[in-house]
Amino acid sequence: MSESSDLSGLSKIYEESGKVRISLEGKKFNKIRKYAEEHFEQFWAEQAKNLVWFKEWDKILDWRDPPFAKWFVGGKLNACVNCLDRHLTHDNNNIKNKAAIIWEGENGENRTFTYYQLYRSVNIFANALKNIGVMKDDRVTIYLPMVPELPIAMLSCARIGAIHNVVFSGFSSQALVNRINDSKSKIVITADGSYRRGKLLELKRTVDEAIADTPSVEHVVVLKRASNIVRTGSKDVWWHDIIENASQYCEPEVVDSSHPLYILYTSGTTGKPKGVVHDTGGYLCHLNATAKWVYNFRKDDIYFCTADIGWVTGHSYIVYAPLMHGVTEIMYDGTPDYPKPDRYWKIVEKHGATILHTTPTALRMYMKFGDAIPNSFDLSSLRLLGTVGEPINPDVWIWYFKTIGKENCPVIDTWWQTETGGIMISACTDIEESIPMKPGSATFPLPGIHMDIVDEKDGSSVASNRKGYLVIRKPWPGMLTTLWQNDEKYKDTYWKKYDNIYYTGDYALSDSDGYIWLLGRADDVLKIAGHRLGTMELESAFVSHKSIAEAAVTSMPDEKKGESIIAFVVLRTGFSKSDNLRKELIDYIRNVVGPIATPNEIYFVNKLPKTRSGKIMRRLLKSIANGATETGDVTTIEDGTSLEEVRQAYNEMHKNI
Ligand code: WTA
Repeated sequence: MSESSDLSGLSKIYEESGKVRISLEGKKFNKIRKYAEEHFEQFWAEQAKNLVWFKEWDKILDWRDPPFAKWFVGGKLNACVNCLDRHLTHDNNNIKNKAAIIWEGENGENRTFTYYQLYRSVNIFANALKNIGVMKDDRVTIYLPMVPELPIAMLSCARIGAIHNVVFSGFSSQALVNRINDSKSKIVITADGSYRRGKLLELKRTVDEAIADTPSVEHVVVLKRASNIVRTGSKDVWWHDIIENASQYCEPEVVDSSHPLYILYTSGTTGKPKGVVHDTGGYLCHLNATAKWVYNFRKDDIYFCTADIGWVTGHSYIVYAPLMHGVTEIMYDGTPDYPKPDRYWKIVEKHGATILHTTPTALRMYMKFGDAIPNSFDLSSLRLLGTVGEPINPDVWIWYFKTIGKENCPVIDTWWQTETGGIMISACTDIEESIPMKPGSATFPLPGIHMDIVDEKDGSSVASNRKGYLVIRKPWPGMLTTLWQNDEKYKDTYWKKYDNIYYTGDYALSDSDGYIWLLGRADDVLKIAGHRLGTMELESAFVSHKSIAEAAVTSMPDEKKGESIIAFVVLRTGFSKSDNLRKELIDYIRNVVGPIATPNEIYFVNKLPKTRSGKIMRRLLKSIANGATETGDVTTIEDGTSLEEVRQAYNEMHKNI
């Protein structure tokens, strides 16, 4: 592969400088890896021993009915106890009184919660939830901005055995309706508002709109965050009112290892988002172990992960993993560039962050603004830099390494998915020996994780330097257990392509040194600024507009966002194309799905290219939108004029730019 060979010289430079080598293939790692290969189940059981169990498991893994895995069968635990109570009772390091969360708002204000304060707040809110009728197994939808009350609400659910369903607060009401209804949530937790770029976001109003169509909801709990005047309906209760008389201690619900900790909806290749379900024991074991290997947390670390908790990175590596490890973390409620494009650096300096974990999208944005901005901050506290969510271009990696890390911090690129629960491929810094880094490669699968790259046609392992599908050959503790109330779809989506092998939907290759290079999605899932969206989901949003008969959505490379959304639409009779309609459609999609789904370009056509069986040929649209003059094999196309028309629409628009 050209990237890999281009970079081999570079990785040597790093090796020779002797300064930055990430520990990985050294003795310790090899030993762990070999042991994990030979004693797969035992290896994971040893990791699980680092959790707090009320009762240990009888069986490590039940894989008798694939693809339905059960980890640590018979084991009993509570996720909240593992994050909070453990630091009060088994505390040699005085974690109890150290900061758990240092919160920073967009306007620079701070709030800090020690582990003990967090523990108290969670106990009280857990009791408040019980008092309004929440019971074990009930689903609770949480639609909150990045305020400490978001992890408090999640941990409170975990404490009482309720299943949380966090919805990213940037999603609009339709997305909320779908997720509340599919999960049949009894409670929705939201805020009177939140801030984005100095503007008020009316979260409560979005919830008001949504709950008109969600019959399962009994109460809406409203947090006062923005002193915004909101409508209070019969189902509404204020957060501050329900905690007022709630008692200080809530007995944790002891649950089975397989008890669902949460549902998190994610986009796939169909119109409807999928409710990924994670269990308690396996998931926490995976997070606890991977966080140790990857971050090698130290007592005095100040860990800053910039993800939003509305996505899986926030669930796993802002809420559960760092709290289990008793780390102090920064939680930021704002964008990287408001009011100035320096917020992450300012926060690193202000709080002395030692680990920064962010997205390639944010780095690309900062890179564009030049080195002078980060150079004007003291970033010397940093010891480790991470990225997640999308492929990182080697030049961005190098910029991160040099300008932010001053060539002193390893850069770890972590690959995983909502479905895998935790990190699957990454360098591990918890090892003494080292290997050279290769900018742009996520390096190797973690110990105990059986990744492979296989041939698209027959599923056999491909030779090195050959592109293929990234798959996982054995179950792993953090794996999703099913899709909410949809076992069949779970089987079909992930396990059917190759029998009992998990299909990730990504392309990858392994170079001659065995380093893994991620090569993007093989399916119709988009990554817009690191956010996961499905083309079908966006197409259904388009066709719900009165003017649209048909829509096809694809993406094109975007310098800042990685990928950007483009849509080809067919209008209903009675509507004609205009710039106004284009603007109206863009606003409509922003309102129906959310601002992250803002289309970059919309093309009006009379027909979409389809196969004879009626399937939209997105591959063709994508290649046209990416400027290709050759569109490959078009023999299955039903009507060639549609293709010509799409090409014309594209050329017309680009002529004017
Ligand atoms: C992509 C995010 C390249 C990939 C944690 C995957 C990545 C999808 C990386 C899952 C990475 C994630 N390099 N691509 N380091 N990390 N991806 O569910 O396509 O939001 O399948 O989980 O993001 O996105 P999700």
